[in-house]
Amino acid sequence: MVEKQEEKLLLQAAAPLIDLAIAEDIGPGDATSEAILAPEVVLQGRIVAKAAGVVAGLTVAAEVFRRVDSSIEFIAHVADGQEVVPGELIAEVKGPGRSVLAAERIALNFLQRMSGIATLTRRFVDAVACSRAAILDTRKTLPGYRLLDKYAVRMGGGLNHRLSLFDMMLIKDNHVEAAGGIIPAVTRARQAQPSLPIEVEVRNLDELRQALSISPPVDRIMLDNMRLDEIRQAVSITAGRVPLEVSGNVTLGRVAEIAATGVDYISVGALTHSVPALDISMEVGRPPVRETRSDSVSQVTELKAALGQRLVILGHHYQRDEVIEFADFRGDSLQLARQATQTEAQYIVFCGVHFMAETAAILARPGQHVLIPDMTAGCYLADTAALEDVQAAWSCLDAAFGDVEAEFTPITYVNSSAALKAFCGRHGGVVCTSGNAAQVLRWALEQRPRVFFFPDQHLGRNMARRMGISLEEMLLWNVRHLPDVQAIRRARVVLWPGCCNVHQRFRPEHVHAVRERFPDIRVIVHPECKMEVVDLADETGSTAYIIKQVRAAPPGTRWAIGTETRLVQRLQREHPKQHIISLAEVPPYCRTMGQITVQNLARVLAALMRGEMVNEVFVDAETARWARMALERMLELG
Ligand code: 13P
Ligand code: SF4
Repeated sequence: MVEKQEEKLLLQAAAPLIDLAIAEDIGPGDATSEAILAPEVVLQGRIVAKAAGVVAGLTVAAEVFRRVDSSIEFIAHVADGQEVVPGELIAEVKGPGRSVLAAERIALNFLQRMSGIATLTRRFVDAVACSRAAILDTRKTLPGYRLLDKYAVRMGGGLNHRLSLFDMMLIKDNHVEAAGGIIPAVTRARQAQPSLPIEVEVRNLDELRQALSISPPVDRIMLDNMRLDEIRQAVSITAGRVPLEVSGNVTLGRVAEIAATGVDYISVGALTHSVPALDISMEVGRPPVRETRSDSVSQVTELKAALGQRLVILGHHYQRDEVIEFADFRGDSLQLARQATQTEAQYIVFCGVHFMAETAAILARPGQHVLIPDMTAGCYLADTAALEDVQAAWSCLDAAFGDVEAEFTPITYVNSSAALKAFCGRHGGVVCTSGNAAQVLRWALEQRPRVFFFPDQHLGRNMARRMGISLEEMLLWNVRHLPDVQAIRRARVVLWPGCCNVHQRFRPEHVHAVRERFPDIRVIVHPECKMEVVDLADETGSTAYIIKQVRAAPPGTRWAIGTETRLVQRLQREHPKQHIISLAEVPPYCRTMGQITVQNLARVLAALMRGEMVNEVFVDAETARWARMALERMLELG
């Protein structure tokens, strides 16, 4: 779904590099293939991921094949920005064997480097997802590859810093020295180029104060190589007057702590100067190449028929099409929780993420077994709240009020571990889903005066706002720096600082951009999006709500949808008379939902046929008893 214009610019930048690569690698010809392959031999190549990562550079790879031999066909099976699992088919090529083999290495070199950048960027972006910080690249790119490297950063979910020396001024220590101070340097810069944005680099808090004294304010201040405690002080001194960027020595190990200080941007040179290529290879054979995917599809079809009434397959809306096709029930997490209680089947195979399968296991009847095709398919959001941390926060609330159980109803979003659901069951609390969060919150506030909501800060904040609770009455918990007692006592809603790394990637700029292009567009977003995005949207609701609204709209309606991309793409296909786009320019996919494939579904079903239970999801009886209580409280609300 990457814009055509963006692709055009990318190809313009890539064309001379591709020509150079063809000249250096193929030159007058591929001696080996020309000696061994007859000219009429046709080959088919499957470009396959060998490691998990984010794909970037498909159009560049396609262009390499086209430039080597325009009769080669290139079919992409995923999109730039999409995460792939090991073994996943990225693209297929078909054409004259000599040309396919000659172009292979060059195409992979581009694709692997760009995907490596996108993959590393995504790791940084994920590491700071629950903060306000955005990840930026630098000018430390491979000479000549600036546009390609920066494109790959965007596909990873990062933002671009200035492109070159000419599109933004960055005043560094050498400039300051030459001008005789920060203030004269900014004055000269403004006089020379009034329209260019200006960023000033500062190395200590004194310099920061000088930079802040400039009026009108500069566009951004860079905190260069500062210690964490200094960065924290800088954030508090700046108090939001100028956006702050941290730069220098940022590693994956440190980035979350830096982001937690409250800075706006973090620039990371390593994204492009130390790139590990993503492991991608091409398997070549004579067409038709053995189609492993359709083998699995027919295997699942047969196994499902053979298991008959004993089996029910549940599929969440974010699942791959080829998986959802086999779901007896598809739905959002609320529907699936209900369906799990109604089925009579002996085996419930949950095509979704682990907490969903756990929920089904908690609600299952005696004798029913819940299985998941990939045990490691977790949820980023659920993982932001560990039981011990939530318990520690609960103890702090208890210390602040004396009797926490009289003051707070705990609510856990269904995207959480069984242990947290049990915690809610034990303490008079309840579970909610994105479909009923407002209703559950209302109920909870009728029970006790305050609510402790985890793990998704955005869902909690968005729903509390909808009920008229002001931001001043909400407290965002901080695991690193515990809030003081006064702040806790003022809070009506305490929010856990968790978030979903998929929905977090929708930004207010995206809403402005789609509205500018299409003034009549309807923006509909999931409540896991940030408050700033929800506030700008026309509607907010669960995945089932989004589907219902799109279905009910008249043909010709234009939609920008802020939720996981597989669902958006399915809606596009199912409603060709409506104009549907993803709200984000690089549409986000849920990596862990994508871990469920027809191949691992087939493995689980094949084992069931042999009488073996693989990947069964268990919840111990005590945890299940309390968690069921919290879930049943929710289901009773209707
Ligand atoms: P729904 O409850 O809307 O299905 O959402 C579940 C989920 O995982 C959203 O990210
Ligand atoms: Fe979890 Fe977000 Fe994926 Fe939903 S989309 S399963 S909340 S990581």
